Amino acid sequence: MRVGVLTGGGDCPGLNAVIRAVVRKGVQEYGWSVTGFRDGWRGVVDGDAVPLDVPAVRGILPRGGTVLGSSRTDPFAVPDGVRRLKENLAKQRSDALVVIGGRGTLGIAARLHTEHGVPCVGVPKTIDNDLPATDWTFGFDTAVGIATEAIDRLHTTADSHRRVLVVEVMGRHTGWIALHAGLAGGANVILVPEQRFDLDQVCAWVASRFEAAYAPILVVAEGARPSDGAPVPGSVGEWLAGEIARRTGQEARTTVLGHVQRGGSPSAFDRWLATRFGLHAVDAVRDRAYGTTVALRGTDVVRVPLAAATDRLKTVDPALYAEAGVFFG
Ligand code: F6P
Repeated sequence: MRVGVLTGGGDCPGLNAVIRAVVRKGVQEYGWSVTGFRDGWRGVVDGDAVPLDVPAVRGILPRGGTVLGSSRTDPFAVPDGVRRLKENLAKQRSDALVVIGGRGTLGIAARLHTEHGVPCVGVPKTIDNDLPATDWTFGFDTAVGIATEAIDRLHTTADSHRRVLVVEVMGRHTGWIALHAGLAGGANVILVPEQRFDLDQVCAWVASRFEAAYAPILVVAEGARPSDGAPVPGSVGEWLAGEIARRTGQEARTTVLGHVQRGGSPSAFDRWLATRFGLHAVDAVRDRAYGTTVALRGTDVVRVPLAAATDRLKTVDPALYAEAGVFFG
């Protein structure tokens, strides 16, 4: 059997662990030949492929990023993209594709499978943990660890200067990183995109924290917005610190963590999850379970339709968010 593999969308710690597991199991256990396509769907559209054997994946398990490169190329948006993609798959004599990606990349896999019969098996990834098909995505645990370490470090500088410190974390649509890192780091306020925040309430929490003789740490997801619909120019973290300073008279600073959260070595949990996803994706290909994606349910890796990974977002449950409220202020 000849199997192609690609990584699409934003990079994420654990991608290399999946690639390694696919190659190790596919080549060593089933005797397949595995080809990597460079830069996500772009590599398939352009016929940019590289053979992947066991020596090619040696040492990549702890490495961040993806050795195959990534892009957000959509073959449906490229002139003649789907025809070229199918031609290149035929040229490579590819029997199946293992597609590692988030909603965008897996959505393309779903369309290629249903509309064009391209045999795809998905592996869900995103640091945002917002794919409903799976309990956890790899990359999330690493991102939360990085954000938590940043919050830990910011506590001491906040206290030393008696300043408000706002930490902006990733999450355009969902607040999973903010919620988990905020709880793990002992933040005094956590703001998520799922629930608009009341600026007066936030300022009251800040004031009460100072009354207790501590400087507050606020964790805000990049997609969080105020309830009055006020326009937020640029970074919400920067904007929030400015508003807090203006309204409370306290000094405030912002740290925008940005892509640091996506970089570097995956945590042990993410290596474990990504490796298991890779191994199970190979078995899904062996069983010709095309149009599915692997997913974690509890501690089991299962197969679900690709559409289930792409049709909506998994948002933070209001009850979970409410739980965290006990620490606010
Ligand atoms: O989806 C992952 C993610 O890291 C989001 O949290 C973030 O908003 C986005 O990607 C950033 O994308 P880019 O790297 O294209 O700026």
